[in-house]
Amino acid sequence: MTPETTLMSARDSVQLVYQGKSFQMPLVRGTEGEVGVDISKLRQETGLVTLDPGYGNTGSCQSSITFIDGEKGILRYRGYPIEELAVQCDFLDVCYLLLYGELPTKDQLSKFANEVTHHTMLHENFGRFFGALPKDAHPMPVCAAAVAALTTFYQDAEGEDSIHQSVLRLIAKMPTLAAYSYKHSIGQPSIYPRNALDYCSNFLYMMFATPCEEYFVDPMFAKALDLLWILHADHEQNCSTSTVRMVGSSKANLYASISSGISALWGPLHGGANQQVIEMLESIAMTEGSADKFVQRAKDKNDTARLMGFGHRVYKSYDPRAKILKKACTDVLSRIGGNNQLLDIAMRLEELALHDEYFVSRKLYPNVDFYSGVIYKALGIPVNMFTVMFAIGRLPGWIAQWLEMRRDPQFRIGRPRQLYTGATQRAILPIEKRG
Ligand code: CMC
Repeated sequence: MTPETTLMSARDSVQLVYQGKSFQMPLVRGTEGEVGVDISKLRQETGLVTLDPGYGNTGSCQSSITFIDGEKGILRYRGYPIEELAVQCDFLDVCYLLLYGELPTKDQLSKFANEVTHHTMLHENFGRFFGALPKDAHPMPVCAAAVAALTTFYQDAEGEDSIHQSVLRLIAKMPTLAAYSYKHSIGQPSIYPRNALDYCSNFLYMMFATPCEEYFVDPMFAKALDLLWILHADHEQNCSTSTVRMVGSSKANLYASISSGISALWGPLHGGANQQVIEMLESIAMTEGSADKFVQRAKDKNDTARLMGFGHRVYKSYDPRAKILKKACTDVLSRIGGNNQLLDIAMRLEELALHDEYFVSRKLYPNVDFYSGVIYKALGIPVNMFTVMFAIGRLPGWIAQWLEMRRDPQFRIGRPRQLYTGATQRAILPIEKRG
């Protein structure tokens, strides 16, 4: 803020003084006591715009879906603490909660589960879609493209009834698309969904069954997956969710908007971190004692290494999802048996970082991606499918946020401003005089 500009706060508004004139800007209060300055008339009344790279201070909407207190490590969906949802609900309960605002009754849940189950199959022509892609294609862009391609099969995606159908189709078909993309990448035939199975078991069945032999889904694996998807289900205005809202704000349909969210999630600073975490742990496992060395590298500004799965824009204390997953890792691995080496390395890294001034002073703690990969690996999920797992889990959150935006009375196309820093007007020189 320049010396010519001052901001003063009263009870219900703040006053901005700029070039000798004063402007009132109303305060907006959230239900958890957070306060925002409504700057929607700022440019119109003062000619000023705000500048907030990375949007760290910008509230892009009012939302009643998810509450996070990053300082206290609190995460709630529709008012329910994540710790309680993780123990008392299953993923379809949580989908319903996010989409419709309340936990379902028994009848509502069974109707919802039936509707979702009814839509799990893909159109047969999708076989040709997967066949057209390179065999070694990463499943994330394959899923993004497949979700966008759903629009071509369901062209009437507008109107409340069609939107409702699109919501059910997406929740139902996403695991099928994901499993088909995996089967394509390993050259195996796709396996049709088996609708007698629950949501998570059906996915594991499509991933691991083959036409040659019977495959029985281990209920413990399905339960672990269910927990992971509950923890991923929403996280308010993160990069991919903001992308879904931004794309949807042009009135692009739900499939197109979700496809863009999947692409945004793929980046290594966002959902792609879970793949990077396991790759980091595996590379540390290959060299004795390198956890300590890796922590040193992550602190070195001249080294590109970061401690993947650590740090978060919002959490400045332990991510509550990571706390739940750390415990789940120990439970799952002790029940499955086998090699705990990666978990041991992760816990060693955490211990080193949480006692290191660099990480302590920057309030860097494990995030949801730090332990999720260890569980996915134990379940037999291939590493290049980890971020796809995140996308299936995040789907109900993206949809709920998209629906909330479309129904918002203040709905407007998203269109940020900028501060232009390029050349001022100049004349074009003839080509022989340039250079
Ligand atoms: N390892 C080493 N240093 C780090 C790390 C890390 N993982 N994360 C942040 N820092 C440092 C960063 O270098 C900076 O230091 P300085 O103040 O000296 O310049 C300081 O901490 C603040 O970091 P930032 O990059 O300005 O913070 P941000 O809010 O812009 O970024 C983040 C948040 C998650 C992108 C970042 O912490 C990061 O890159 N973490 C690793 C990737 C990761 O785990 N991503 C998954 C996020 S959780 C799942 C999801 O919702 O997507």
